[in-house]
Amino acid sequence: MLITGASGQLGQALAEEFPDALALTRSEWDVALPAPALLTRPDIVLHAAAWTDVDGAEDDPQGAAAINVGGTANVAELGAPLVYYSSDYVFDGRKQEPYVESDGPNPLSVYGRSKLHGEAAAGETAWIVRSAWLFGPTGHNFVRTMLRLGAERDEVAVVDDQRGSPTYVGHLAAATRELLELRSGIWHVAAEGECTWADFADAIFDGAGLRCRVRRITTVELGRAAPRPAYSVLRSEKGAPTLPHWRDGLRECIDRLA
Ligand SMILES: NC(=O)c1ccc[n+]([C@@H]2O[C@H](COP(=O)([O-])OP(=O)(O)OC[C@H]3O[C@@H](n4cnc5c(N)ncnc54)[C@H](OP(=O)(O)O)[C@@H]3O)[C@@H](O)[C@H]2O)c1
Repeated sequence: MLITGASGQLGQALAEEFPDALALTRSEWDVALPAPALLTRPDIVLHAAAWTDVDGAEDDPQGAAAINVGGTANVAELGAPLVYYSSDYVFDGRKQEPYVESDGPNPLSVYGRSKLHGEAAAGETAWIVRSAWLFGPTGHNFVRTMLRLGAERDEVAVVDDQRGSPTYVGHLAAATRELLELRSGIWHVAAEGECTWADFADAIFDGAGLRCRVRRITTVELGRAAPRPAYSVLRSEKGAPTLPHWRDGLRECIDRLA
């Protein structure tokens, strides 16, 4: 088994879940380039490498596409069964109830479009695993940012008009094992439950015993470069593995960090 993007937060969780896998970081395989000549065809690839800077992609669409689309095509070139991790940001967020696998994507951002085109580049035989709002004990994510800010400040302004399902990378890695028992295709695999980023921040401060207040603001007030779906809760209509609630994931993550 081969894991790409092994130093990312999901890559690290996958490497823990599948300790015998060959886990390659960007310095070992920059997926924007063809596979290293010495790499033999693996039995399966878990492709966790990606351009994940959602706002940065707006200024560099070609850079994002080179990794998320071109990189995925390079990984597919290996000719091995492929798991491609995709995003809730392939949807426009206009739906008022959870997105299921048969819902039509309509990405709002450059990043979302690159992830959707990456799904196509992964090929028809790939497992397309759409997940959402990933967090874990390592890397760059909302939980770690809030823990840092919550320790430094009395109040943090957090967006309260985007709803999603914060998903613990350890739970997604474990579900990947179950998913490999099922047929390939698109699967929605995200945590149970839903919340806004502000609700999530409140739960993080509660769980970590921080006294920081959450000031609830709108997406417009935050003024980020990339548009994001207002609602991007994912559910499976096909019987994908169910994940624990995001609050359970948060508890595990905070325990790991402690
Ligand atoms: N984060 C989320 O909220 C979220 C939500 C839904 C889906 N996803 C998807 O889940 C997957 C994993 O995301 P993540 O949160 O684990 O992201 P992450 O922590 O940013 O990890 C991405 C990894 O990809 C590596 N990478 C970037 N460009 C590369 C290249 N050209 N060649 C090889 N490796 C490269 C990065 O390397 P460096 O460490 O060297 O930069 C990093 O280790 C991605 O496909 C992402 O689109 C993420």
